Amino acid sequence: MDDRPFTTHAHEPRPQSGGAAGVRAPVVIDARNLHLAFEDNVVLRDISFQVREGEALAIVGPSGVGKSTILKIILRLLVPNAGEMLIDGEDINQLSFEEVLEVRQKMGMVFQAPALFDSLTVFENVAFPLREHTRLREHEIAERVGNSLSLVDMSLEEFADRLPAELSGGQKKRVGIARAIIHEPKILLYDEPTTGLDPLTARTIVQLIKRLQAELEVTGVVVSHDVRAVLEVSTHIAMLRDCRIIFYGPPEEFVESADPYIREFID
Ligand SMILES: Nc1ncnc2c1ncn2[C@@H]1O[C@H](COP(=O)(O)OP(=O)(O)O)[C@@H](O)[C@H]1O
Ligand SMILES: [Mg+2]
Repeated sequence: MDDRPFTTHAHEPRPQSGGAAGVRAPVVIDARNLHLAFEDNVVLRDISFQVREGEALAIVGPSGVGKSTILKIILRLLVPNAGEMLIDGEDINQLSFEEVLEVRQKMGMVFQAPALFDSLTVFENVAFPLREHTRLREHEIAERVGNSLSLVDMSLEEFADRLPAELSGGQKKRVGIARAIIHEPKILLYDEPTTGLDPLTARTIVQLIKRLQAELEVTGVVVSHDVRAVLEVSTHIAMLRDCRIIFYGPPEEFVESADPYIREFID
């Protein structure tokens, strides 16, 4: 078997991610033959994929299949037992603690649960990464927080002083996204962005993710067990089953798949 069966060679990226004709966007995330087990429980076997600049990869599959685990490897919260995770060509598994912190600055993460600090206001929640990692002055922080909130359609005036408990599920999700983009990451990672939201709110979050992909020109990875929710935002779909990628390709091809397992999953 080809040891890199799911690279993107067969599919040209969308024109906006490719630049001039014939020039392909650089690979930002390059997972090579990842293998990961929690003791006896093998979760990932020989997982390879690439995400090029401006692309949005959706990783789908049933609950417990290893989707969040892949995000954790990208963030280097987990180190695989074998294989490489290259970010901008650099194998992050080989980096020192300080170097990892630097690489993580390229990434924004939207967690499945809102993961907001309950005792902090919306303003302080969104400002948090800047206070942790930069020495920006107060007025610069306020400007960045205002920009970030307006990107998720929330006004500073209305929401700055609210506590998470005073927000709806959709608003919490949007604050989580505002926090994830505050340091202008080139990579945006989402874990189950629509889970726990009512269908209408889920829809607005999907629209928001789609708009941010275009406006911020980020490279995205969206993990979800709800394939319908992510079809629209992704340029590529990877489907996991039994520790492996059983489909890799554009969403149009995914929905047309004749594979009975995929059909059942979609329907
Ligand atoms: N920290 C951990 N320790 C032990 N097992 C874990 C840990 N995290 C995840 N797992 C196991 O790894 C598998 C994949 O988990 P996960 O990546 O969270 O799945 P998904 O996000 O697709 O629902 C599951 O069987 C889960 O029980
Ligand atoms: Mg998960």
